[in-house]
Amino acid sequence: MWYYEIDVVHVFASLNKLIKMEKTISKIMLREHERINEFLEEFSECRNNDLNKFMEIFSRFKWNLEKHFFLEEKAIFNVLEITDGTEVSDIFDLMQEHGDILKETKKVGKTLSQNSCPDMTELIEKLQKHAEFEDHFFYPKLDNVLSHQQKEEIIKRAEEIIRGDVTSFSKAFIYDIFVKTLQKTILSETLKSF
Ligand SMILES: [Fe+2]
Ligand SMILES: [Fe+2]
Repeated sequence: MWYYEIDVVHVFASLNKLIKMEKTISKIMLREHERINEFLEEFSECRNNDLNKFMEIFSRFKWNLEKHFFLEEKAIFNVLEITDGTEVSDIFDLMQEHGDILKETKKVGKTLSQNSCPDMTELIEKLQKHAEFEDHFFYPKLDNVLSHQQKEEIIKRAEEIIRGDVTSFSKAFIYDIFVKTLQKTILSETLKSF
């Protein structure tokens, strides 16, 4: 039957594509930033009569942010300090910004502990500016200038920390390829039948 043959061909093509997919520091960190951004989208909804829900979101956001900074500082910046002196000035600025952002996060937590809705504007602005620099400049630069071995070491360490999220990233990627393949197959077979 035609759909059986096409399925096999496309399954192998998809798997081949997946195997060849290059892991980069930028891709992994972009996914990480998207995950943090998902929390930020929920912060527009703080209402004084529903503070408990907001506190719950904030607590998850704070934990994930701290985990993200830990990942960057221990899995990426530390490796760079050992292997490449040229990135030290960027790392110094980024570490300072981490400190600033955590201070801002603490302020938000304090306001919440006093049972009021916090103003998230400054925290969101600082985070977005920081992530923009990392996404558009810092991580792509690392992908360009580091050796294959250095990148592998960083990716290995980063994945150890975010293993669960990387697994879901891979699952989403596989699912996406299969859905697109299936859509293309159905469309081309439908066209052929006319
Ligand atoms: Fe950062
Ligand atoms: Fe980051």
